[in-house]
Amino acid sequence: MIRVEIDGVAAGGEGVGRVGGKVVFVAGAIPGDVVVAETVLDRGRWARAEVRRLVEPSVHRIAPRCRHVGVCGGCDWQMVPRGVQARWKADMVRGQLRHLGGLEDPPLGGVELVGDDFGYRNRIDLRSLSGRPAFHRAGSRELVALEECSIAVPALQDVLSRVGELGAVRRLTLRAGIETGELAAFVTGHAPPGASTRWGIPVHRGDRGHLHEEVAGRRFRITGRAFFQVNTAGAERLCELVADGVGSGRRMLDLYAGGGLFALTAGGRFETVTAVERDRRAVADLLHNAGGEVEVVSAPAVTATARLDGDWDAVVVDPPRGGLEREVADALAAWRPPVLVYVSCDPASLARDVRRLVDAGMTLEEVRIVDMFPQTWHVETVARFRG
Ligand SMILES: C[S@@+](CC[C@H](N)C(=O)[O-])C[C@H]1O[C@@H](n2cnc3c(N)ncnc32)[C@H](O)[C@@H]1O
Repeated sequence: MIRVEIDGVAAGGEGVGRVGGKVVFVAGAIPGDVVVAETVLDRGRWARAEVRRLVEPSVHRIAPRCRHVGVCGGCDWQMVPRGVQARWKADMVRGQLRHLGGLEDPPLGGVELVGDDFGYRNRIDLRSLSGRPAFHRAGSRELVALEECSIAVPALQDVLSRVGELGAVRRLTLRAGIETGELAAFVTGHAPPGASTRWGIPVHRGDRGHLHEEVAGRRFRITGRAFFQVNTAGAERLCELVADGVGSGRRMLDLYAGGGLFALTAGGRFETVTAVERDRRAVADLLHNAGGEVEVVSAPAVTATARLDGDWDAVVVDPPRGGLEREVADALAAWRPPVLVYVSCDPASLARDVRRLVDAGMTLEEVRIVDMFPQTWHVETVARFRG
């Protein structure tokens, strides 16, 4: 057991402290806490540990709203006011851009708090534990029965309270279109008879159905469990930031385009837009949503960038958590488009890619931080580069 005074946050939301020169990442601890922790991994210069006893609680701690906090892997920071969460998110982004990105003084804008503090998620993904809705215990495969989810939008919280017995459902995804008022369930396994009537919403098997959402004046079809931004107000703000970033011109490329959120909004001020996406559900949605307005390339980004020419006035990338594949980063570095807008949900992979792009001669002009996942350590950023 070690005693650790926590004075920072790591990229994965863990508290960070030092013990005899060793950096210790402590899951479940926050800045200001003094904890007794057990080391679970020791790598010499750094270690991972888990809290066994909270010796002195941080002055930032408040009572969390949800009974599952500390057990559920969803809301690690519900015990801290949102303004403090936002400050730590900025520290996290700055830290990653310094250490992995190699930028001593990264060009950060302030953190924007977008949308409601609670009740903002338009999607929840559940498992079944003995026929009851359940979620994964933080950092584990173990399932825990779910009674409530305070970050889900009220309409989904209502559905959740009616779900009851799940029968032979193995996975259940509940989705809401905030602006359209639509609700839908997507199940893996077999929904119990009468589920649709009892839950009061359409119940689709797998990815066979869809619902709609409206963002920035556009209507988006979303099929099954295909990606869509989970915070609709956040999606709206991202569209504005991307549109401001790319400006206008002849040709825009949207890589990792999903159902076309940026291609169809920020792309509006370009003569032609090309959108690349590999998920077949998202590609079908993209074709439907775009109605011929956008050239759709149904391929992995690596394949697409190898085939496409590099003549773009602006490129938007919004990759999954792992960031850009090496080949995609190399293609962008070789193209050096006049403007590159990089939307990221992971400061660590963003910072690694910033380093690659800056080393290749691109200039990082600004990184905007959007707090659209309150109560969690997750953070969205919109970075703008010049080629
Ligand atoms: C973070 S989402 C962004 C989608 C869209 N920009 C939005 O905001 O709705 C990333 C998207 O990239 C797609 N994707 C993941 N890996 C990919 C790859 N290697 N090539 C192309 N698309 C990929 C996913 O299916 C997903 O739709």
